[in-house]
Amino acid sequence: MDSSRFRPFSSADAVACRRVGKTWAEGTVRAHEALRDIDLDIAPGEFVVLLGPSGCGKSTLLYLVAGLEAQTDGLIASFGDPVEKPSPDRSLIFQETSLFPWLTVWQNVSFGLSIRGAPEAERRAVATEALARVGLSAAIDKRPDELSGGMRQRVAVARALAMRPKVLLMDEPFAALDVQTRAKMQDFLLDVWRDSGASVLFVTHHIDEAVALADRVVVFTARPGRIKSILPIGLPRPRDPFSPEAEALRRQLTAELKAEVDRAFAEQEALATA
Ligand SMILES: Nc1ncnc2c1ncn2[C@@H]1O[C@H](COP(=O)(O)OP(=O)(O)OP(=O)(O)O)[C@@H](O)[C@H]1O
Ligand SMILES: [Mg+2]
Repeated sequence: MDSSRFRPFSSADAVACRRVGKTWAEGTVRAHEALRDIDLDIAPGEFVVLLGPSGCGKSTLLYLVAGLEAQTDGLIASFGDPVEKPSPDRSLIFQETSLFPWLTVWQNVSFGLSIRGAPEAERRAVATEALARVGLSAAIDKRPDELSGGMRQRVAVARALAMRPKVLLMDEPFAALDVQTRAKMQDFLLDVWRDSGASVLFVTHHIDEAVALADRVVVFTARPGRIKSILPIGLPRPRDPFSPEAEALRRQLTAELKAEVDRAFAEQEALATA
């Protein structure tokens, strides 16, 4: 691919998006533009949160960076190499929990290694370590339906970590959890993130979650999703959610998002009545 027409990127960028666009079903009557002109660099070890109205293309961007779908415009690179297919360096945790109910916890966690043909002893050892990192050693031989929702999400995180990814892509991983469990999972994720050194690209609808977690928050416009603004969150960790600085950032993000959410609703209503 000729990448010279894009703003330069380097092998030091964990993820580099250059004028990335995605039109689903391009060239058909069902063509549907989800993303336009996304320009974004993510540094190694950086925690970036994506915030935007429903349907603005956040999940789509994660699929593109994961290499599960191809962009229809622009370029995506990870550590200097174009993203063209999935790689164990980039793990995606889906919006819905996606554990296999018929496998035990450790078999779920080591599933990626079984695809590679790793022997059982190695897979169990990797799963044991990953489960210890998410505080679920005791659940190693259980099945997903024996776990709570929060525990299942921790297994999903362990499965992603088992591949030792350089980039962790997380699509609203804690959306289904109650507020207290979500706060615990955020703390736990920050610990895991610090130890792993991975870059994180994290999608959420929750402004408080964005301010609690991010180094930078990227606010998207309504569909087709474009970058509306990028807000650095310079607060030291551990963060006090009740500090005046955190409150001011939440206010700013709420204002940024409101206009776009109103626009997205109006558009979806117009489509529904057309
Ligand atoms: N596989 C697909 N085929 C066709 N259109 C799709 C597909 N996946 C998503 N879309 C469309 O692309 C747009 C962006 O969807 P996407 O799932 O990325 O949004 P999102 O920002 O993640 O929304 P939410 O916050 O509700 O999860 C939507 O209009 C959606 O209908
Ligand atoms: Mg989504």
